[in-house]
Amino acid sequence: MSEIKKLIEALPKAELHLHIEGSLEPELMFALAKRNGISIAYSTIEEIHQAYQFENLQDFLDIYYAGMSVLINEQDFYDLTWAYLIKCHEQNIKHVEIFFDPQGHTTRGVAFSTALFGIDKALKKGFSEFGISSKTIMCFLRHLSEEDALITLNEAKDFLPLIDGVGLDSSEVGNPPSKFKNVFASAREMGLKLVAHAGEEGPPSYVEEALFLLNIDRLDHGNRAMESESLIEELKTRQIALTVCPLSNLKLGVVADLKSHPLKSMLDQGLLATVNSDDPSYFGGYLNDNYFAIQEALNLTKEQIVTLIKNSFTGSFLGDEQRNKYLNEIDNYLKNNA
Ligand code: ADE
Ligand code: ZN
Repeated sequence: MSEIKKLIEALPKAELHLHIEGSLEPELMFALAKRNGISIAYSTIEEIHQAYQFENLQDFLDIYYAGMSVLINEQDFYDLTWAYLIKCHEQNIKHVEIFFDPQGHTTRGVAFSTALFGIDKALKKGFSEFGISSKTIMCFLRHLSEEDALITLNEAKDFLPLIDGVGLDSSEVGNPPSKFKNVFASAREMGLKLVAHAGEEGPPSYVEEALFLLNIDRLDHGNRAMESESLIEELKTRQIALTVCPLSNLKLGVVADLKSHPLKSMLDQGLLATVNSDDPSYFGGYLNDNYFAIQEALNLTKEQIVTLIKNSFTGSFLGDEQRNKYLNEIDNYLKNNA
């Protein structure tokens, strides 16, 4: 294995853009379908792999929402989250800020609390067994109305100790951040952190709305912000972290190939870019696979990899003490392995 791959594996990392429902591996999907007596569209792993070929975001979302239909009971959400945390442990991921899509479950009759409690129980075990710290971010589905999002935020009020932030995901084009201005303002008043997917497929104006109308603390994807000098300047000045997802971008046609991915240019322009896996079960790789692929495609240097990994902690919602602890661990590793 190359030096740089060893470094990627060895350094402690944070993952800031991970949809827990997107970590549902085919094997677990089959097992849960059987356990819950639910029929799914596939009978073999082979068929699943054939189905996971996407032209764009919507192609993926249709399959992603169908996939989550096997998640019914608290135990299912626990098993899902625990499987992801085992991957984190294997990949030396020390801190995770995971998304879940409550409306993807409540619209099917699964209670908000069922999903949240199952996820939370696994996250607590992840901390006690592996020392992996975590934050939980509930995303609003942007293809639904703001009224629906407000109802969901209202449901979250009973569980605020378990929730750290809100996000915005699903079909981007035609559902601009401005549609969710009020619900984001309410979430802010409740003390929650704010993030939003913007500039994945949507135009730079969506990133602008996320920054100026929603007042986000962090930007998910943000690729198309690179089309605007003034947005780049704003992101740089505010030191807004971008949660970039290379293999996702490739699989959803956001970039034609990884060699044309904007990650290097983001770093060159002083943006706080991070690497993440988005929906690893659907896009063919967990966090380290994303680092390996983008490092190779863009020929990123050791220094650039260290910057990206440090950014994952700097851009996290950890408090200063914990953030500095992880950053020091990275420096110590580099000092001892120079
Ligand atoms: N939901 C899960 N993954 C997503 C993505 N990459 N973009 C928008 N919504 C999503
Ligand atoms: Zn995402």
